[in-house]
Amino acid sequence: MVGVGVTEAEVELAERLAHHVPSVEKVLLTNCGGEATFSAVRLARGVTGREKVLKFQGCYHGSHDYVLPNALTLPSAVTVDPDASAGLLPAASASVLVARYNDLDSVHALYDAYAGAIAGVIVEPILHNAATILPDPGFLEGLRELCSRNGSILIFDEVITGFRHALGGYQAIAGVTPDLTTFAKAMGNGFPIGAIGGRADLMDHFNTAKGGDVFYSGTYNGNSAAVAAALATVEVLETEPVHEHTYRLGERMRRGLEQIVADAGVPATIVGFGSIYGVIFAPGPLRTYEQVLGNDQAMFLGYKAGLLKRGILEMPAVNAMRSHISYSHTDADIDRTLEAAAEAIPEAIASAQAT
Ligand SMILES: Cc1ncc(COP(=O)(O)O)c(C=O)c1O
Repeated sequence: MVGVGVTEAEVELAERLAHHVPSVEKVLLTNCGGEATFSAVRLARGVTGREKVLKFQGCYHGSHDYVLPNALTLPSAVTVDPDASAGLLPAASASVLVARYNDLDSVHALYDAYAGAIAGVIVEPILHNAATILPDPGFLEGLRELCSRNGSILIFDEVITGFRHALGGYQAIAGVTPDLTTFAKAMGNGFPIGAIGGRADLMDHFNTAKGGDVFYSGTYNGNSAAVAAALATVEVLETEPVHEHTYRLGERMRRGLEQIVADAGVPATIVGFGSIYGVIFAPGPLRTYEQVLGNDQAMFLGYKAGLLKRGILEMPAVNAMRSHISYSHTDADIDRTLEAAAEAIPEAIASAQAT
């Protein structure tokens, strides 16, 4: 039965999240990441009574109007992209402010211009949706400080980083604690589930608590199949060396790819963290969105096509897509991928030169 009330399994899952994730005192479940960021932004507005939400160029937080502008859409910008989608409510776009990832000055400038109007700051703590840009030392700390000083809600969107990089999310690694956190993806290991969690005094504003003034609902929230999958995932993460294994394979893959691009003499940067890796055909280290957009598209697509010909599917869809290693992958999978890469990269160079 769904949509009737809270189940014991749901409570157990919430308790596991609160146990592991530094920022999480209370939890509500969703069916995907976008629903979690939707509710996080609404909550930030509800508790602060402010309208603006600050996001970063290149970060993707789901398909809803509140956060869609300025994902991987523009060459380089800190103005809001009104054309992210037909049908986007202009008032929703007007409520978005856009800053540059790893550039605290751009955040300061928006706080100067919109003093007292910024409800919250939402950020991918590692910018995985633009290849992988790691936060510079002090960047996440700076956001924490600015939000605390200005009474804004800091939201870490850990839909990619949560569970994948650590059971406590990337916040446990970075040592920076947001006010709210969103999860999905690795949390259900393929099953459709997400979560929003955070400070109890904020979460109590949802109408799931007595007197809550921020509306929250969803027939399939906390449905048994997805909750069982998430609980099973958490249990495996708690009891088996998942991160040790995937981090080791990730490291092998990145070192191997570095050697391959060096041997090929191609200007490329190997990006990644933990179990995530990618090849970006632009000089590194990659600290900014603009640098990632320098990715040579012909090389990138040629390389992915070369891998595919050799039986390895790495998403070519977006010109900065990263790839992921799972617990089920083995050293033999890494060897096979590196062998394919060692052939595909010179092939991509040759075909780029021929065109
Ligand atoms: C960081 C991040 N947040 C939110 C989302 C949206 O999640 P979903 O597609 O489950 O709605 C995604 C999806 O790719 C994402 O990468």
